[in-house]
Amino acid sequence: TALTFLMIVLAYLGGSLSSAVLISRAAGLPDPREFGSHNPGATNVMRLGGKGAAAAVLILDILKGLIPVYLAWFFDIKPVFLGFIGVAACLGHMYPVFFRFRGGKGVATALGTMLPIGFTMGGLVMVTWFVVLLVSGYSSLASIITVLLTPVFTYLLKPEYTLPVSLLSCLILIRHHENMARLMRGEEPKVWRCKRETE
Ligand code: G3P
Repeated sequence: TALTFLMIVLAYLGGSLSSAVLISRAAGLPDPREFGSHNPGATNVMRLGGKGAAAAVLILDILKGLIPVYLAWFFDIKPVFLGFIGVAACLGHMYPVFFRFRGGKGVATALGTMLPIGFTMGGLVMVTWFVVLLVSGYSSLASIITVLLTPVFTYLLKPEYTLPVSLLSCLILIRHHENMARLMRGEEPKVWRCKRETE
């Protein structure tokens, strides 16, 4: 329907607002696209020196996924289209029309799209991410393992969303190809390493 189409477009446009770039600019921090991992995301903003800014980026990026999917659910849009709306929000974050299509990796925004789907789903995803981070120290490894497991969680808990969630997992994995190469070379920085070392 027209409403679904409009929501897909709006989700993409909302996702295109790069909170990491905008918040770093406002906070007087370096442009996350130019330093550290060159990724406009909460992890890299934290790496570049802003814990508060990183928290704000994380929350805004989650909301970019959460709001459109929640609204779609509120408007009773069918699960399959709800999935497309979530994917559109993440595609906006990854390939933002407002930032020459140079976006982030989609982890926080994808988490946002999961939260309205179910409390258990969202909880499992967050716990997995934090456990891997605490054990390994790598934000990227936490993201990679989480997106590998999320389609399985979805299939078991909310099978109607398995297709869009698997699609999102594939997109997020592709966005982590440089992290995977660095992890294998043993060159990936742990989250607590400071700015000077990552420039
Ligand atoms: O969410 C992005 C994270 O998985 C990796 O970020 O900056 O270490 O490439 P970064």
